[in-house]
Amino acid sequence: MTENNTNDNNEAGEPERVVGTPKADEPVVSDATAAPEAGEHAGPYAASETHARPEETQRRGEKIASVWFVLAFLGGLGFLVSYFLFPPDAIGAPQIAQYSNMLLGGSLTLSMFGIGAGMTAWARQVMPHYEVHSPYDELPSSEKEKGSFSDFFMRGADESGFTKRPLMRRTLILAMVPLGLAPIVLLRDTGPLPGGQLKHTTWEPGRRMVVEGTDRAIRAEDFENDPNAMISALPATEHGHHLSLNEQAKTVILLIKIPEGDWQERMKEEVEGTDGATRLNWTHNGIVAYSKICTHVGCPAALYESTTHRILCPCHQSTFDAANAAEVVFGPAHRALPQLPISVDDEGYLIATGDFTAPPGPTFWDYAKD
Ligand code: FES
Repeated sequence: MTENNTNDNNEAGEPERVVGTPKADEPVVSDATAAPEAGEHAGPYAASETHARPEETQRRGEKIASVWFVLAFLGGLGFLVSYFLFPPDAIGAPQIAQYSNMLLGGSLTLSMFGIGAGMTAWARQVMPHYEVHSPYDELPSSEKEKGSFSDFFMRGADESGFTKRPLMRRTLILAMVPLGLAPIVLLRDTGPLPGGQLKHTTWEPGRRMVVEGTDRAIRAEDFENDPNAMISALPATEHGHHLSLNEQAKTVILLIKIPEGDWQERMKEEVEGTDGATRLNWTHNGIVAYSKICTHVGCPAALYESTTHRILCPCHQSTFDAANAAEVVFGPAHRALPQLPISVDDEGYLIATGDFTAPPGPTFWDYAKD
């Protein structure tokens, strides 16, 4: 027994054995390869004496580890089967959702625990025992130290019994197969990809707009009594149809009346990709429409300061200039509020003449390239 394997003496004066260390009567295999010669550096991974496990212990360890690996395999298989047989969104069977999480969690736990328990049995009953110490050396390692690591690694691979014990090796590989497939299965739940959904909303040419909350259709003349008015609006829908919260979040707009002469330069510039249109062409009689969703992280930018024409987001104080294409003038947002091109129909109701000029809401991956 090495000195490292003992604790303080007990009352009878006999040295106590540290839990997990080999017994004193276990055979000791000399460790000539790891022992440094006199005056020689021990290398980064020097080992003490090696205590090989008796063959009988190793065989028992192999069987125990294999049983755990088979259980891990069954757990992993159960995970895959539960995922497909008991989907959480099973139509018409809400009780399945309740069992789905339980089965997925339970089977995955069994699988991972089985592999961990099998590895523990393997290490404690099959692999030889010795202690390794690694001095804290200067970097980079010398060639000799690198060679020592390589020897140590090869020796560890040999001692692990991975090649010599086929039952344990095969059951471990078996256990890893369903567990390896689990992340692939789970990736299915991150889809489907949004495609062009984030770039388009339900705004379309000719769509009227209604006051958010009352659903009253808005006429251009509603702004005549108040030259600085601001109205929060949504697209009008067919009778009985309500916009989902998602649709509302994407389509909600601010309609703002800007007095003639207050428009700034960006409104008069020709917009890239259009046939000579300016942003002023997308307004009607001084009324401009912008997405109400802040381009920072998506709060409603619902505050309007009419004398300066500033739209303020209360969440982190991003400020946009309504008279200048809703450009950011302050705060963490770094993209203007998208503008909705508007006009009026034959009856004088405000309508959209197209979709937003850019995707509404917070920045997403297309903008990461900017
Ligand atoms: S969400 Fe508007 S400033 Fe952060």
